[in-house]
Amino acid sequence: MKRQLIVAGNWKMNNNYEEGRELIKKVREMLQPSQVLVILGTPYIHLMSAQSMTTDMSNLKLAAQNCHQEVSGAYTGEISAAMIKSVGADYVILGHSERREYFGEDDALIAKKIDTALANGLRPIYCCGEKLEVRESKKHVALVSSQLEAALFHLSPEQFKEIIIAYEPVWAIGTGLTASPEQAQEMHLAIRKKIGKKFGADLADGTTILYGGSCKPNNANTLFSQPDVDGGLIGGASLKADDFVAIVNSF
Ligand code: PGA
Repeated sequence: MKRQLIVAGNWKMNNNYEEGRELIKKVREMLQPSQVLVILGTPYIHLMSAQSMTTDMSNLKLAAQNCHQEVSGAYTGEISAAMIKSVGADYVILGHSERREYFGEDDALIAKKIDTALANGLRPIYCCGEKLEVRESKKHVALVSSQLEAALFHLSPEQFKEIIIAYEPVWAIGTGLTASPEQAQEMHLAIRKKIGKKFGADLADGTTILYGGSCKPNNANTLFSQPDVDGGLIGGASLKADDFVAIVNSF
């Protein structure tokens, strides 16, 4: 099965409405037709205008950066998966380490969000990854395996097909420290094997596994050349159109 290559931007809490429009305009001007699916993970307020600015682009899709685990109701200030879908986003980033760290999200909660996202037609980009001390104690593969089990292994194979994985070592996010291509490949292969054991080799082969953590134009190519690295989830470098598009062109 051929895997979809993806470069997804995660703007995090950056860009007001006008700045967001400006960035999307630049990205769309610079993007060349290619096999790579580009996803923009914007704050909620941008999704609707981003959708109307990019409706004609079949290789550019939109993601929210979170959604609530419940379908609807009295949850002041929250945004539901159905609301996100209704403004034209097809993806949602879930399990990001910043949500785990600053908002107390654990895999049990993330599993509920995954279910609600899928039930509302959103494809989750599920983030997993270890902190530095876990890597130093050589427990990184075991930790990521347990994250996958806890958040995703209750799904049916049909549901799992909708999942995109993003391996993001926490020590590499926003730090300028990038996993080496070998470190990324080791983990991506371990993730694929783990998926294979649970869901079978075909599904594992078809699963897109992204790398995230200080991925930049100068290191994207060596990371993306690894056999099990199918693209990237890009934070800081997604805020500059030329850097982001250079990463898209790094395969
Ligand atoms: P970074 O962020 O590229 O700025 O390290 C990646 C992410 O958090 O998804």
